[in-house]
Amino acid sequence: MKKRGVVAISKKTLLCIMAVLLLVAVVLSACSGGGVDISNVDGDESFAEFTHDPDDTYEWEESTEPPTETETEAETEEPVELIGLREAFANYFYIGVALPNNVLQNWVRYKDVILKNFNSITCENEMKPDFMLSHSESRKNLEKTYTNPVVHFSSPQLAVKYATQNNIKMRLHTLVWHAQTPKWFFTEDYTNEGKLVSRDVMLLRMESYIKQVLTYYKENYPGLIYAIDVVNEAFDVGNGDENGIRRVDNLWYQTIGPDYVYYAFYFARKYAAEDMKLFYNDYGCMYKIDLILKNLKKIKNDGLIDGIGMQAHMDYDTDSNAFKKAMKAFVEAGYELQLTELDIGVKKNNEAQFKAQAYQYKRIFLAAKELVERGYKVTSITVWGLTDTLTWRSGQYPLLFNSDLTPKPAISTILSVFDE
Ligand code: GLA
Repeated sequence: MKKRGVVAISKKTLLCIMAVLLLVAVVLSACSGGGVDISNVDGDESFAEFTHDPDDTYEWEESTEPPTETETEAETEEPVELIGLREAFANYFYIGVALPNNVLQNWVRYKDVILKNFNSITCENEMKPDFMLSHSESRKNLEKTYTNPVVHFSSPQLAVKYATQNNIKMRLHTLVWHAQTPKWFFTEDYTNEGKLVSRDVMLLRMESYIKQVLTYYKENYPGLIYAIDVVNEAFDVGNGDENGIRRVDNLWYQTIGPDYVYYAFYFARKYAAEDMKLFYNDYGCMYKIDLILKNLKKIKNDGLIDGIGMQAHMDYDTDSNAFKKAMKAFVEAGYELQLTELDIGVKKNNEAQFKAQAYQYKRIFLAAKELVERGYKVTSITVWGLTDTLTWRSGQYPLLFNSDLTPKPAISTILSVFDE
């Protein structure tokens, strides 16, 4: 009893002291012209003019004022357990992550962070043609395989397993791409030295490949794959023909011709399940809006494509207004939109740069959120990797988690889109 009384008195006293301190703080603050003005933090309203200089803006300056009582209290408390990204954006779009097999092989280590934040997985490599096509099996019985290359499904199997076990969806990346597709796939005898096959043979191989991959997932894992990058990176003026269709280092173009893009979508539509949405995926989309829209026009008019995937490999100081303009142009042209490979590079792994990165992430998420609120279809944002060490851009620290899996400032800053 006595003990409880002592505690009650202490609490009262403490409350009185806190009230007095609060009063003093309010008076001091009023005299000095007000507290910290946060109205300019991320003053970049969506689609407004963007004049952000991440290295020197006032928004990163540390406050020179003494901490307010609320701040002192917050510092001594346990860190707030943030809700995960997937839950926060559940009414908007899927939040995806690209995973390599070495993360999936260590699932126990990574699963809490993955399951808390992401409800979509893309295989970083394992669903690309160089992982799916079997060279040895295709060469074995050429008569049988000449127009039916052998596909095997073991490479992405871990991703498929953990996705299905945990009710996570997958993006299939990618069917037709000039890179990471073996040369032997295009030759008469399935060797890297062989002569390239004719257009007709290559169209048959393309159909067979797309049919085998899509039928497998449609029949064995219905509902798992919600988006397919049917064609990746086909439009590139510098390496392209008169219409900007990539010709250089592109064996699809060299065997079939420029309409290989059309046929890829034609076959994908033929064999995909209705709930697998068909995407054209590309980099640098903000610089080639017209090029992409022009070259997809017939495919769209014929009902063969659903959406555009903007890869979104960018930097903390990339012009986010230009990026948003591209997002807007694609949805206004009637495409579903997904950001498929988002990562945002910085120069150094220091606090100021990570804050700049966080606000760049926020601008992108905010733009996507607002497009959804205006009735447009932005259906997924995928980050291209889990941690700053598990990424192709590891020197640029581009992702949402540190190598020890602790969240970077970007996580809470992205979540703050709901405070707007
Ligand atoms: C492109 C591809 C991705 C990946 C990255 C580099 O964006 O679409 O699959 O290969 O390059 O990691």
